[in-house]
Amino acid sequence: MARNARPRGTARLGTLRFSVSIVPADSFREDVIAGLSLPQKSLPPKCFYDANGSRLFEAICRLKEYYPTRAEIALTRAHLGAIVRFAGPRSTLIEYGSGESVKSPLLIEALRPAAYIPVDISNDALRKAAAKLHRRFRWLDVLAVHGDFSRPLKLPMAQARGRRVVYFPGSTIGNLTPDEAQTFLRMTRKQVGARSAMLVGVDLKKDANVLHAAYNDAKGVTAAFNLNLLARINRELRGDFKLRRFRHYAFYNAALGRIEMHLVSLVRQSVKVGKHRFSFDTGESIHTENSYKYSIDGFRALAASAGFKGEKVWLDPKGLFSLHGLVAA
Ligand code: SAH
Ligand code: AVI
Repeated sequence: MARNARPRGTARLGTLRFSVSIVPADSFREDVIAGLSLPQKSLPPKCFYDANGSRLFEAICRLKEYYPTRAEIALTRAHLGAIVRFAGPRSTLIEYGSGESVKSPLLIEALRPAAYIPVDISNDALRKAAAKLHRRFRWLDVLAVHGDFSRPLKLPMAQARGRRVVYFPGSTIGNLTPDEAQTFLRMTRKQVGARSAMLVGVDLKKDANVLHAAYNDAKGVTAAFNLNLLARINRELRGDFKLRRFRHYAFYNAALGRIEMHLVSLVRQSVKVGKHRFSFDTGESIHTENSYKYSIDGFRALAASAGFKGEKVWLDPKGLFSLHGLVAA
């Protein structure tokens, strides 16, 4: 069959639909005020992704130091046949944190799913990616959902057909603490049903120097991604952060098996966010992201604690990244 052609016997054209599962701007304000009021100031990583944050993340994925995107694409290409056999044909493919949907075209082409449901908190990135996929795969129903996957979601399941396959690539699961990841997996199992399957991309533990470089790139794109959070607060919540008074700081916390990203205050200062005021000591930080790295067995144990059996695992040729095939235990 020609590339991107309709599957045999499919006469109809696919549809493109958007739905909203939450009102994200409300939770951004609450998350910022609550997070900056904590003794260790801390913001959830989902706050990075306004339109600018999504563009900066896309730029990170193209950096020579940031290996996860290339490694996951390489492993998907190398094991595509086995991944398709695991997921099964004519399923409904649900992607959490789909962003620019760079990896899903590989799966869509090979799996020929009945419908694709990308879910993302970043409305701009979601709309752009969904429209692009609709143009490329004219036979496919693309049912985009603007929503927060850390809460129960309203998915367009009435239009879903076949087995539900949840795709969660990019090691976005590593941005959750292990407790949050367990809650997320349990919630997802309930949401999509026990007959469904999951494909979860998970970054692996490795040499700390490789990790350090990936989150401290020479061009400063990761620093710009981190600092954009303060610019977003200024834009959307009437903040007066002076970006030059903060520094990007990322390091590997080996004891906890995670990269930590912080924004460190370079001076003693006070910052306004709307009618709220927050003070910073010199050296005090806002903890903006964790990126957990797992061993294969470590991730399987986490999945098992949430009621999933790790049935398959695939690695890229360099052994940097893993894709787990999970089914309900
Ligand atoms: N899956 C893509 C993008 C990963 S970046 C890849 O593998 O390259 C993480 C994506 O998850 C971003 O697009 C971000 O907007 C989205 N995201 C982060 N937290 C989210 C949440 N709580 N709910 C929905 N989307 C979220
Ligand atoms: C989306 N997530 C898996 C990325 C990561 O590697 O944790 C986000 C990121 N943060 C800095 N660089 C990339």
